Amino acid sequence: MLSKIIEDALNKQVTVEAASSQVYLAMASWAETLGFEGVATFMYAHSDEEREHMLKLVKFINERGGHAKVSLLEAPPAEFGSFKEMFENLFEHEVKVSKSINDLVDITLKQKDYATHNFLQWYVSEQIEEEALARNILDKINLIGDDKGGLYLFDNDVKRLIGSQAEPDSN
Ligand code: FEO
Repeated sequence: MLSKIIEDALNKQVTVEAASSQVYLAMASWAETLGFEGVATFMYAHSDEEREHMLKLVKFINERGGHAKVSLLEAPPAEFGSFKEMFENLFEHEVKVSKSINDLVDITLKQKDYATHNFLQWYVSEQIEEEALARNILDKINLIGDDKGGLYLFDNDVKRLIGSQAEPDSN
């Protein structure tokens, strides 16, 4: 059974993951309107992943006797400047999500909720992967700079990274 403190903290994370899914969906749509099919495909897949992260939390909260809540979300921006800015935005977003997961882990230790602590380890590993992936993409974008041909190749290339976002375990 979840304590109210843990339930509220997990519900906050539900909102964080839902907001991530929305931001990445907005990025996907923006890239698609610019004709960058690869980046759009990558971002649509990333948005779906964030929804999975959210659903995993929803199910855990309910399974443990709590009630997962769906909350109102702020509209994300519709445009992101450049791909460099967009991926910088994505990286910074993931760093914030990692901080939010770490804070949550900290609360479970203080509350001695070892079941939730154990459950959250999946998210800890996932955040390591997500930050590494975002950093990897940013490195590529920085190499390309404003080169149009480079961006075209990058668009083709980035689709291959979708597979590397596989979940760390089969849960
Ligand atoms: Fe679910 Fe990318 O954090």
